[in-house]
Amino acid sequence: MSTDGRLLTLAVILVAAAAAAVSGQVAAPPPWAFGFTSVGTEPAAPPCAKESKPLDCARLGAPRPKDVVHKLPDTGRTFTEYDIHFDYGPADWYPDDHPAMPEIVAHGRERDKLRACSLCHYPNGQGKPENAPVAGLPADYILQQLQAFRDGRRRSADPRKANTNEMIQIARHLTDAEMKAAAEYFSSIKWRPWITVVETDTVPKSKPGMNGLFLPQPGNEMEPLGARILEVPENPDFTERARAPHSGMVAYVPVGSLARGEELVTKGGGRTVQCTACHGADLQGVGATPPIADRQASYLARQLYDFQAGTRESALMQPVVAKLTEDDIIAIAAYVASK
Ligand code: HEC
Ligand code: HEC
Repeated sequence: MSTDGRLLTLAVILVAAAAAAVSGQVAAPPPWAFGFTSVGTEPAAPPCAKESKPLDCARLGAPRPKDVVHKLPDTGRTFTEYDIHFDYGPADWYPDDHPAMPEIVAHGRERDKLRACSLCHYPNGQGKPENAPVAGLPADYILQQLQAFRDGRRRSADPRKANTNEMIQIARHLTDAEMKAAAEYFSSIKWRPWITVVETDTVPKSKPGMNGLFLPQPGNEMEPLGARILEVPENPDFTERARAPHSGMVAYVPVGSLARGEELVTKGGGRTVQCTACHGADLQGVGATPPIADRQASYLARQLYDFQAGTRESALMQPVVAKLTEDDIIAIAAYVASK
């Protein structure tokens, strides 16, 4: 690049940074919300082009063991860890939780390397912090989002987030009939409250796994929380090894977040618009405006940041998030997840 080119680039960056500082925008994707430990260290996502098969965009780990068998509470079923994580038909621990799964939800479509929706979002749609809660969302909203992924109107602000790239490719491969069947299915399932929000200064030392789920490290060491949310499974083995769809998450949040979040969510606090105006008094959604209460705190924070960065386009949410700082996003996500 020429010197002029470099100076111009620098000028553009400085202007953007100054604009962000004035409006109170967050400078870079907060790594904790995207499943990373810092802005620079984690590796890039595998290349993912418009023609890619969904699975080709994924970060893949070692195959799960075929000789380890898991059991969970409230079910007589047992599965090997391999079967629990099978891409094209993962274990269904609690078939009574939900109606019969459409083919695309239960098995995906192996010939196109399109993994089952139930692998990431669980058969009951509860999802995990690194993907998304989809149970109980309005069917029209689900269809809108699948269309937005397809059209490039919903991307991750952090290009390292490979599973969002895969989700985008999945949406591009779905037929209209599959989209409709999946939307009606997840929409018909009642959301099970499952996030516990805890205000604290210190947290178990944790690290993100390959796809961004933070897990406490062996040794029970503690570390300062600082200005972030740390969301971990209440039972790491149940979630990470057995994909237990009844085992919830604990979101550790900075002391004072809940009171500050309540002020912003219910009154706007001079920085935003009351969420209750559109998402309903109980934040359980109104019409096609989605419910947000008691969803994964880091998912909520990630969406707020994506709206602010503009990688998730929304004419209605953009003004809501325009002036939020990272501390505001933490407080709002903490409070909404606690409802
Ligand atoms: C490999 C894991 C994976 C699979 C398989 C998968 N998804 Fe997703 N999905 C994601 C991720 C990751 C996100 C969240 C994106 C983000 O936070 O940036 C997501 C988000 C969504 C959302 C948006 C939810 C919201 O509240 O806005 C919908 C709807 C969705 N997925 C539906 C589906 C359907 C339907 C299928 C099956 C056809 C499917 N997903 C399969 C990973 C997956
Ligand atoms: C003017 C109406 C309006 C207001 C006010 C509003 N929202 Fe939204 N919100 C929406 C709509 C509509 C969507 C769905 C995305 C879209 O279609 O634009 C949405 C989507 C979201 C999502 C993504 C949900 C998901 O499942 O991915 C989150 C999180 C969210 N809003 C949080 C908030 C919070 C927190 C506030 C208050 C600080 C708020 N919203 C205020 C209309 C609103």
